[in-house]
Amino acid sequence: MASRSGFSSRIGFIAAAAGSAVGLGNIWRFPYETAQNGGGAFLLLYLICTFLIGFPIMVGEISLGRNTQTDPFGAYKKAGNKNWGFVGFFGVLCGIMILSFYNVIAGWSLGYFIQIAFGDLLSQADFGAYFGNFVSNEIGSIIVYAILFMLLTAVIVVRGVQDGIETVAKILMPMLFLILVGLIVYALTLPNSGKGLEYYFTPDFSKINIGTINSAMGQAFFSLSLGMGALITYGSYISKKENIISSAAIVTTADMSVAFLAGLLMIPLITFQNPDPDFTSAGPGLVFIVLPEVFASMGPVLGKVIGATFFLLLSVAALTSTISLLEVPSSYLIDEHKVKRPVAVFSLAILIFLLGIPSLLSQGAVPFLTEFVSYGGGPKDFLTVINDIFSEIGLPLGGLLLSIFISTTWKNSKMSEEISSGNSKYIGSGMETFINVTIRYISPILLGLVFITNLLEKLFDVSLF
Ligand code: PHE
Repeated sequence: MASRSGFSSRIGFIAAAAGSAVGLGNIWRFPYETAQNGGGAFLLLYLICTFLIGFPIMVGEISLGRNTQTDPFGAYKKAGNKNWGFVGFFGVLCGIMILSFYNVIAGWSLGYFIQIAFGDLLSQADFGAYFGNFVSNEIGSIIVYAILFMLLTAVIVVRGVQDGIETVAKILMPMLFLILVGLIVYALTLPNSGKGLEYYFTPDFSKINIGTINSAMGQAFFSLSLGMGALITYGSYISKKENIISSAAIVTTADMSVAFLAGLLMIPLITFQNPDPDFTSAGPGLVFIVLPEVFASMGPVLGKVIGATFFLLLSVAALTSTISLLEVPSSYLIDEHKVKRPVAVFSLAILIFLLGIPSLLSQGAVPFLTEFVSYGGGPKDFLTVINDIFSEIGLPLGGLLLSIFISTTWKNSKMSEEISSGNSKYIGSGMETFINVTIRYISPILLGLVFITNLLEKLFDVSLF
């Protein structure tokens, strides 16, 4: 335990955990999920999922990590028993599979940064066509970008928690926030922005169904980095003096704010380009198609500066997340199998990069992977399938199992004891009641429902509602 080097300070942990949370999930995925799923209605569901389920699960993960001082597999074994280890192991597996496709999209962001800053990306006539061509034809380039991104991640993770992870996060997270706000101010002055805002802020309750609830829960878990042990791992690196509740509250709020702001930026941009858009057709290309068009409209110099900065920061946001995704399986190899950090990190990076190749080729390059299987209303590409299994289904399942584990095996009282270190007023407080009631009753019911309906819909193509 003494050899475990951790975060140097509370701010360091918060920056790193917020860095893990804030990523492509907020800026790339949240806006198109919101657009597809009914705008304001989805926003509302997402808020509820985040605070009602996400926040208590985050507290649970951090507490379990700090209590056991080890990787997710070891944490479940130590606080529970051998049989529970598989839950931690499943989390490690989800981390590996999520990183395999996440790194591909992070590579696209890096590619856009390079091609805006040093190439002529912004002088294109049709950004939709450009993006389509980029992901389906420029295979050589996107492989290079994906390799670069994985390498960058590995180089930071290999330096360890403090020198690598913490340092990067502390500088770049505030910058990301500032540039987002700047872009929003610009976007709101564009014609038709009001229409987009109306869609974003007016909840249409008829849009709420099991499908949108599932998406909102999946998005909340993905965005907060929950359900796979990222926060168990980071929690294992913090001191007993730290206040887990307030740290988790800050991380949750930061993550939610960035997602909210990204929606506030992107949705008015959709109406700027088309006053009567079909929001539901928004997809993974959103950030790569609507934003470049706006940057181009700013003129050649300003557009290049702002555009390049934006994609650089998007890459950085992704980087602080890929770091945490790689740290989880690395900590597993280091803690459980006594593998040396450099060996663990670099062999995992190579493995995960290779696992990502089918996802990389599934966006139009290889027809078999582009229309891999069919469910939920149409053919799905390989990347979507992996995302559905390991993040949409896997992460809420991880949260469900964590809740059951805490209530039945580790016990809420043990968790409360852990939380009260660094927060002496916790036991007996309203917060304790809230966390315990959620973990014991609300989260197993809601997450159980999400898991079952998602599984039926995505894997067996059965829709219950
Ligand atoms: N939270 C990250 C994002 O929003 C993704 C992530 C998921 C990171 C799970 C770690 C673990 O982009």
